[in-house]
Amino acid sequence: MKSLIIFYSLTGNCRKIAKELNKKYPSDIIELKLKRGFKKPKMNFINMLIGGFQAITKKTPDIKNLDINLNNYDQIILGTPVWASTMSPAIRTFLKKHNIENKKIIIFSSYKNEIGKTFSDIKEILNKNNEILDTIEYKN
Ligand SMILES: Cc1cc2nc3c(=O)[nH]c(=O)nc-3n(C[C@H](O)[C@H](O)[C@H](O)COP(=O)(O)O)c2cc1C
Repeated sequence: MKSLIIFYSLTGNCRKIAKELNKKYPSDIIELKLKRGFKKPKMNFINMLIGGFQAITKKTPDIKNLDINLNNYDQIILGTPVWASTMSPAIRTFLKKHNIENKKIIIFSSYKNEIGKTFSDIKEILNKNNEILDTIEYKN
């Protein structure tokens, strides 16, 4: 079975988790990058304001092109930080751009205070013929 870990990380937590999960589920790994990224990879006021606004308003900012064919994978491990109680905008863009069907899915998410609607919002988008095997949460 071929597995892909695909994640977004601003401040590095999901990147570390992705590396850990790769030990348990040997996978190809892809980190999503925004075309117009944040100046500093920090949880500072300006990033909270802009990122939080984008997440709340379900914006789908452009992400850098990915050289992948999802048809090659049976399992997708999807990772995102919680932003404003939901998924990060980069992950929303990815889910909107790629029609994910007939996959086994594991979702992981890291957060500071509360997981919020992150898993349920992602599951709602992935509701077509996918099997959600697990959801894994990591509190900072
Ligand atoms: C724009 C922004 C919004 C955030 N909103 C939340 C939130 O609503 N709830 C929460 O528990 N943590 C929130 N956080 C904290 C992150 O979810 C947490 O630090 C996470 O581990 C970061 O993952 P990363 O290092 O992979 O980017 C927010 C962080 C940022 C930058």
